[in-house]
Amino acid sequence: MSHQSALIAEDIEAYLKAHEHKSLLRFLTCGSVDDGKSTLIGRLLYDSKMIFEDQMAALEADSKKVGTQGGEIDFALLVDGLAAEREQGITIDVAYRFFSTDTRKFIVADTPGHEQYTRNMVTGASTADAAIILIDARKGVLTQTRRHSYLVSLLGIRHVVLAINKMDLVGWSQEVFDSILAEYHDFAAQIGIKDFTAIPMSALKGDNITEPSDKAPWYKGPPLLPHLESLDVEDDLREKPFRMPVQWVNRPDLDFRGFSGLIATGTISPGDKVKVLPSGRESTVARIVTMTGDLPRAVAGQSVTITLTDEIDISRGDVLSIAGHPPEVADQFEATIVWMDDEGMLPGRPYLMKIGTRIVGASITEPKYKVNVNTLEQLAAKRLELNEIGVCNLSLDAPIAFDAYKDNHTLGGFILVDRISNRTVGAGMLHFALRRSQNIHWQALDVSKASRAAQKGQKGRVVWLTGLSGAGKSTIANLVEKRMQADGRHTYLLDGDNVRHGLNKDLGFTEEDRVENIRRVAEVSKLMVDAGLIVLVSFISPFRAERRMARELMEDGEFVEVYVATPLAVAEQRDVKGLYAKARAGELKNFTGIDSPYEEPEHAEITVDTTTLSPEQAAEEIVAWLANN
Ligand code: ADX
Repeated sequence: MSHQSALIAEDIEAYLKAHEHKSLLRFLTCGSVDDGKSTLIGRLLYDSKMIFEDQMAALEADSKKVGTQGGEIDFALLVDGLAAEREQGITIDVAYRFFSTDTRKFIVADTPGHEQYTRNMVTGASTADAAIILIDARKGVLTQTRRHSYLVSLLGIRHVVLAINKMDLVGWSQEVFDSILAEYHDFAAQIGIKDFTAIPMSALKGDNITEPSDKAPWYKGPPLLPHLESLDVEDDLREKPFRMPVQWVNRPDLDFRGFSGLIATGTISPGDKVKVLPSGRESTVARIVTMTGDLPRAVAGQSVTITLTDEIDISRGDVLSIAGHPPEVADQFEATIVWMDDEGMLPGRPYLMKIGTRIVGASITEPKYKVNVNTLEQLAAKRLELNEIGVCNLSLDAPIAFDAYKDNHTLGGFILVDRISNRTVGAGMLHFALRRSQNIHWQALDVSKASRAAQKGQKGRVVWLTGLSGAGKSTIANLVEKRMQADGRHTYLLDGDNVRHGLNKDLGFTEEDRVENIRRVAEVSKLMVDAGLIVLVSFISPFRAERRMARELMEDGEFVEVYVATPLAVAEQRDVKGLYAKARAGELKNFTGIDSPYEEPEHAEITVDTTTLSPEQAAEEIVAWLANN
């Protein structure tokens, strides 16, 4: 595969050398099949000769068979490679394609245009330097143009090209072009796109793609490809303050200790003072080491290993920054989040945040509003569903170094990962740190957890009973507490029904309320363990994620999960409170086991089967286990 370079035939070495040093532009195309997006990409690949001969032959044959261009080559077929999309006529996934010209290499992310593919577009856009927003000249600025532009602006893509396509179908009318331009101009200003380049073109006929077209003598700007070749992408990053998230600590022997990573922004040289975050320690760059020798200067986009003049503690996930202009450090933020998972976002649920090279526990404390991506209206929101975009407050388990996304995509952009399935569930952009988090500090106390426990002659612990309503949790917990009291233990029993009369009386049984219910109870248990108590918790606690969160709040060995295992049919038959009957009759919504899920524990320390054990026997098993562990 090659682009049209005479060098290939004349001097292959020189060609390869030139190729190696060409800059790379990543761009995204936004639009739908109807706008001619696939045709445009096909045209770019074709014009840059990035098509194998066998692909070309297949394309010619396919064009005759299924093409929409009356026997002419249908470039869209080249790009819409997936069988499904050929049949349905829509593009369904993000496809990355590569091509190059004499001066630059390109990676184009081809993402579907429909609203239900917002997450795909965000994925494709996350690394893009430029975005081409396609407009069908016959239709002008559409709802989807607005939606795509909003996303492009949200993701801070610096270079925007408005490709006004199908100009051949409007007779290359300057009037049409100007009126689309004027309309888009006003809209772009509203959403914060300050600058864009509009180009009239016909992707199908190849006008204003690689060469200026004589069809539009009134257009004085560059054709698309030369414009893409001329966009400045690297300087933007180099001019920002130096930031390098540490990928790994390189320690081959005792004499060498370097910090390796990809420089996100700025430049660095030996002798520069650096600050390590979040610790805040400072040192000076000693050497910049690479595979091919030491460098006098390294810049954004390079992967290097940096050594420092002082032995300071640095680990993976830390950020090296220039000392005079460090990022901020915080653990609570406002951020925009795009939800990307079929399962909706739940406030309070513990997720993992990946930001730079750092991974940290994170939860959404407060969704503020979501944005209707078509009208840009702000709507009240309690949670976010797939493809929804909202502004939320976030709280992390530990402070991180960060910049606002608008200033630095690497230090301000993040993804959220589900802790159990490991799926990427969301992507986001940090706006700013919440002041309140910076004004609240840890107070040092003189009486410790250990001394409180010692005074009681025991070790604080949580015995967490989970299971369906009617499984027997409260009965068993009650018996366990009585036994422990009799043994002289200091205990407390937190029971779902009781806590819901006081501390949690504002909560119902929706997923988000249950998450919050468990979060509060987990925090209360933690305080009680800190006080040296043995805490019995009897809550349905139906979700693995929150039970795991509770576990992780405690120290190793402090959290004992007890699965009170009772099949739904048995619990329903017992129906002590008559709630199953109500739920079956449709009088009680979101009832666990009926129309709200229960996720069985996978690694409970103790499982008691209530179909074979009496409550007394179950309690006895738990007491015995606790005595032995
Ligand atoms: S949890 O799911 O949020 O952990 P929790 O243990 O606090 O539930 O409360 C469960 C108790 O509330 C049940 O034992 C039952 O008595 C009562 N209850 C009322 N409505 C529901 C419901 N929709 N689902 C489950 N339990 C309910």
